[in-house]
Amino acid sequence: MRSPYMTRLGLAAVLLAAAVAACSGGNEDDTHIIDPPDAGDAGDASTPDAGLDAGDSGPGEDGGTDAGDDGGTDAGPEDGGSDAGTDAGSDAGTDAGPPPGTVTIPNELSGYGLFTGTPAGGDFKPVEGNLPYELTTPLFSDYSLKSRTLYIPAGKAALYSADAVLDLPVGTIITKTFAFPADFREPTKNVRPLETRVLVRQPQPVGWVAYPYVWNDALTEATLASGGKVFKDFSFIDEQGVTKKLDYLVPQRNQCQKCHHVVDEQDNQHLLPIGVKARYLNREHTYGVQPVNQLQHLASLGKLEGLPPAAQVPRAPDAFNAGEADLTQRARTYLDINCAHCHNPKAQPGITSRLFLDIKTTDEFSLGYCKRPGSAGGGVGGEFDIVPGSHDTSILWFRMHTEVSGKMMPEIGRALRHEAGAQLIADWIDAMPPRSCK
Ligand code: HEC
Ligand code: HEC
Repeated sequence: MRSPYMTRLGLAAVLLAAAVAACSGGNEDDTHIIDPPDAGDAGDASTPDAGLDAGDSGPGEDGGTDAGDDGGTDAGPEDGGSDAGTDAGSDAGTDAGPPPGTVTIPNELSGYGLFTGTPAGGDFKPVEGNLPYELTTPLFSDYSLKSRTLYIPAGKAALYSADAVLDLPVGTIITKTFAFPADFREPTKNVRPLETRVLVRQPQPVGWVAYPYVWNDALTEATLASGGKVFKDFSFIDEQGVTKKLDYLVPQRNQCQKCHHVVDEQDNQHLLPIGVKARYLNREHTYGVQPVNQLQHLASLGKLEGLPPAAQVPRAPDAFNAGEADLTQRARTYLDINCAHCHNPKAQPGITSRLFLDIKTTDEFSLGYCKRPGSAGGGVGGEFDIVPGSHDTSILWFRMHTEVSGKMMPEIGRALRHEAGAQLIADWIDAMPPRSCK
């Protein structure tokens, strides 16, 4: 059985669609135009419309007909932002615009044509071809419920990798929506999305780009917010019935790469997705009636090539399900998905701190055993990152447990402590054969 925590996250994908239901309508048809970001792009197969038109869940008949120019036109992009060029798609060929296949980044989330309905209307859901997915163990982000979708353009497919992020084709769009129910004891009621984050794979040399969209109070639209946003004094009631209050932070666009980055052999930094790896995707999700394995589902749709037989596909356990793996594997999985995007040999914080928390690291010192921190001075709970057998003198645990900014880890992405996560790591450290570090 999965713990309540995971059950909740498991529900996340359907929440946005189901939760706010029963509210009154108010979703005019044109708040969710199935409009290709770059319809103007001379029929390139990599444009989202190719796939979306094939879908039939769009409102009205064949939404994707009028020129893909509305992404950039309305409401004036306040941030002068989107380097992909706001309307380049409409005049492909006339000048040295962005390369073919470039997705025009719309100012409104609806401009992607990846969803229909609105949270206000209770009918916000991905269009066909924009596939919801879940991870076996997700990143903790202040208890928010997350729903993720993956859109791979028609005629294209991802390439399987056993270890790395799936190699997703140009034109891929991944979204992640963060939401809170008013009361976690009734997690499907009064769910309020705060933000939707979007990763888009543009043609070279641009590659992956990242954009935050913030939902309006009416829950009818999310708008590009390159400068991020703080939801001050945001509150919700937790599973124990206790009110939690926090300043919920939507990262600025340029903060996305703090986590979504790798340094390559030439020392160049690249933005990359993090969670779309076989071992995290290797779980079931219900697309129709029956739950099916997500990777197999992708493969059966022709969206994933090279998937080996099921027994050969790695799987990260649910870190909070003791029935799935032993304590060490679960703790290491938790650190891998919550910390390793910064703490690995190819990311700047890892390179600087020499603390590697990715699943592949086996060397105990790099994992923090009896390791003195290279960075932060005093006041971080101890002298060593991990003191085997003693979580409360281990800096690694302290920094997960504290809510003091400047000390807490991850350094961005949370304001609240993840009680279950900190407990898991405490249990893991306490179960290690005791050692006195010097
Ligand atoms: C604190 C680190 C952190 C920051 C900052 C961050 N992300 Fe992520 N993001 C993650 C991790 C870890 C995952 C994978 C785990 C998950 O989805 O729960 C992820 C997943 C995603 C996904 C789903 C695809 C994937 O990579 O697996 C999208 C889309 C995304 N992030 C967009 C953004 C955008 C846009 C921003 C900036 C506004 C941003 N993220 C900032 C850590 C971060
Ligand atoms: C957004 C990037 C980022 C993420 C995610 C992140 N860290 Fe860090 N971490 C840093 C940076 C930068 C430093 C060095 C500066 C400092 O110590 O504050 C650091 C330092 C540390 C240190 C001190 C290490 C040393 O030996 O110097 C520990 C322990 C630590 N992090 C634990 C964690 C844990 C545990 C997680 C996941 C729960 C995590 N970090 C996630 C960026 C990150």
